[in-house]
Amino acid sequence: MVNKLIASVLPLLPKKFVWLFSKRYISGETLEDAVSASKGLAAHGVRVTIDHLGEYIRELSQAEEVKAVYLSMIERFENEGISATYSLKPSSFGLLLDFETCYSHVREIIEKAKEYNSFVRIDMEDSSCVDAEIGLYRRLLNEFPLNVGLVVQAYLKRTPKDLEYLASIHSIETPVNIRLCKGIYVESPEIAIKDRKAINKQFIEALDFLFRKQVYVGIATHDRELTNSAEELIEQYSLGEGDYEFQMLYGVTPELRTNLVKKGHKMRVYVPFGKEWFGYSTRRLKENPKLAFYIIKALFKHG
Ligand code: FDA
Repeated sequence: MVNKLIASVLPLLPKKFVWLFSKRYISGETLEDAVSASKGLAAHGVRVTIDHLGEYIRELSQAEEVKAVYLSMIERFENEGISATYSLKPSSFGLLLDFETCYSHVREIIEKAKEYNSFVRIDMEDSSCVDAEIGLYRRLLNEFPLNVGLVVQAYLKRTPKDLEYLASIHSIETPVNIRLCKGIYVESPEIAIKDRKAINKQFIEALDFLFRKQVYVGIATHDRELTNSAEELIEQYSLGEGDYEFQMLYGVTPELRTNLVKKGHKMRVYVPFGKEWFGYSTRRLKENPKLAFYIIKALFKHG
């Protein structure tokens, strides 16, 4: 209740005030900020995936602008020699307005990434987007087998079936590449598991399934219980560098991140940047009021 109250009040506060809390989770407003955050992480042996903030668009013309940002972002990172991949949300390219337009924009971005042997991850958004995002991935995987990946959310009840499907299209010609996360959106209990233990169980079952199918997995979590279980599976299946990586969000659980890097695991951090940070932060808070707790904790920790 308290978390919900804080989460609903924060968007009403002055932007500058909210920034005090949000800055821990966002590299900054500009591409320069993302570049400098990424260099800092690289110095600690951490790879990055870059996200330009902004989700739903109202008009298709806005998608052109988002695409231009991604194209120049890729050039900039590659020219800097930073080992980066790129994460995008199809709804910012009009997924729910016009699938074909979205497809052609995302295709162009992946084509640019391919020029540099890089990689684009299609983030998974709320349940209204899941079928379309799997369809988008399927089509792009055929065209760019080494340059595109998808996200799967462990909290969705449909996920085991989706994984069966994704494993069925996994082959040497079209190697499926999955980021596995719990899922951040508020979904109804009809379609999503609500109990933390049950979500964790489905997460580990999904990871075990993907490892058995020899699918490359980005293990995206800050939950120590899950990273421990993942490490057990990695050992059990004698997996190496080419089989998996851990992934975390910028600013979250840096100690756990460092521990995993020290143990020799590949680590990638999701680095968001952009002017839309206010909407992003407050939306995330509304979607997951638990985050308000971390913000308050940061307030007391940092003054
Ligand atoms: P959980 O929420 O249980 O957190 C575990 C622990 O981590 C907490 O106890 C706390 O210590 C710490 N923690 C978590 N969040 C924190 C915060 N904000 N500040 C401080 N500490 C925090 N979701 C989605 O639906 N689609 C997507 O495409 C993606 N993409 C994505 C990429 C990457 C790289 C990550 C790491 C996550 C995502 N997510 C996502 C978000 C994901 O679904 C999930 O909501 C968050 O990772 C939180 O879940 P955890 O597994 O970390 O567990």
